[in-house]
Amino acid sequence: TNRTFTMIKPDAVQNGHIGNILAMITNGGFKIVSLKLTQLTVADAQAFYAVHAARPFYGELVEFMSRGPIVAAILEKDNAVEDFRTLIGATNPAEAAEGTIRKAYATSIGENAVHGSDSDENAAIEVFLHSISYTECYNPKRFDRQ
Ligand code: GTP
Ligand code: MG
Repeated sequence: TNRTFTMIKPDAVQNGHIGNILAMITNGGFKIVSLKLTQLTVADAQAFYAVHAARPFYGELVEFMSRGPIVAAILEKDNAVEDFRTLIGATNPAEAAEGTIRKAYATSIGENAVHGSDSDENAAIEVFLHSISYTECYNPKRFDRQ
C-alpha cells in the first residue's frame, strides 16, 4: 500500500515538537492526507495496542497514550509503511539511527514520540479506525488537485 498511519504521542505534543515532527515527515516525502489533534480515551488506547495486552508494559503504555493530546495522521508515499518505519527509527531511542524522529525527540522506550504502522495490514486497519473516528476531517480526495 502507499498509506500508513501515525500518531505524534503525548510526550512529543507536550514537549512542543508537533511542528518539527511534521516537518520531518513532509521533508521525508510523505503527504499528509488527514490530520487531527485529539486525545485517546483509555478504551481507545487499550484497543489500539490490544496486540500488546499480555506484555508487562501494557498498563503503562495505555496510561501514557491516553494522558494527553496526540496528533493522528494518515500519510501517503510509495512504500509508505516501510519508509515511515525507517524515518521514525528504533522503538528504543538509544538504538535509533541518526536523523530519525525518535533519535531527535524520543525520551525513552516507553515515551518514544511517534507511532508508525508496522505492516500494510495494520496500516489499513488503523487508517480505517481513524477514518470512522474522525469523519469530519477525512477526505483524501480533497488533496487530489495538489
Ligand atoms: P509503535 O509505533 O508505537 O507501535 O512502536 P513500535 O512498533 O516501535 O513498538 P511496539 O509495537 O513493539 O511497542 C508499542 C509501544 O509500546 C512502543 O512504541 C512503546 O511506546 C511501548 N513499549 C514497547 N516496549 C516497551 C518497554 O519495554 N517498556 C515500556 N514502558 N514501553 C514499551
Ligand atoms: Mg508497533
